[in-house]
Amino acid sequence: MANHPRRPAYDVIGHGYALARRPDPRIAARITAALGDARSVLNAGAGTGSYEPRGPGTVALEPSPLMLGQRPAGASPAVRGVAEWLPFANASFDAVLASLTLHHWSDWRAGVREMRRVSRGRIVVFAFDPARSHEFWLVRDYFPDMAHAPSEAFDLGEVAAEVGGRVEVVPVPSDCTDGFLAAYWRRPAAYLDGALRSAISTFHTLTPAALDHGLRRLEADIASGEWERRHGGQLPLDSFDGGYRLIVRD
Ligand SMILES: C[S@@+](CC[C@H](N)C(=O)[O-])C[C@H]1O[C@@H](n2cnc3c(N)ncnc32)[C@H](O)[C@@H]1O
Repeated sequence: MANHPRRPAYDVIGHGYALARRPDPRIAARITAALGDARSVLNAGAGTGSYEPRGPGTVALEPSPLMLGQRPAGASPAVRGVAEWLPFANASFDAVLASLTLHHWSDWRAGVREMRRVSRGRIVVFAFDPARSHEFWLVRDYFPDMAHAPSEAFDLGEVAAEVGGRVEVVPVPSDCTDGFLAAYWRRPAAYLDGALRSAISTFHTLTPAALDHGLRRLEADIASGEWERRHGGQLPLDSFDGGYRLIVRD
């Protein structure tokens, strides 16, 4: 197995996150619907505030000052902290949201226990299923070491069981505005852009040699038409199942 650096810390990799990771309106609509009529919401691992309800009852929790500093003016109040130890009393919020953050927690089970403790019922987790996302062409054909990153070592079914929620597929739109790993599934040249890659934490887990090797192959395959020969069948699609899932406990 490749030698992976430790989990990337957002105080190191979070520069420019708010620019490359603009919440996608179609995904936002799914998360808003899942939060239902919750009036008080804790957004755990909130980052810059993507997918966070804009209301007086929302509180954000985030460990990275660099991410907290990119929250827009007028965003909900934010507390510095980690999901594994939520500084709130039992049943403090109607709902707790965790969006694209659980794979960064040092102990996701402790974080989910804490979400259950501080929620009065509803929990919404937006995450990816590693078993499925490792089938994504970018990982499978160009950067297979990504599948061995520490952040990929969880089972989505186990997370859903701990949350006690149902699992829903969240398709990735072909023009997705939130530049996460599979966002550019139909726009392969985007992965050659260092600024876009920088906002995708899994790229930071690769060794320089593995990154360079994958980028050279991808660039060559795009130029030669090989990428389109292999994946062109997906080009007419408007959305794609890249393994992203909502876990919802009502
Ligand atoms: C990919 S960003 C997602 C941010 C935001 N929720 C979104 O959907 O754009 C992951 C966030 O999780 C945060 N994070 C890392 N470890 C954490 C932990 N143990 N508890 C809570 N948040 C954590 C990072 O600092 C980062 O802001």
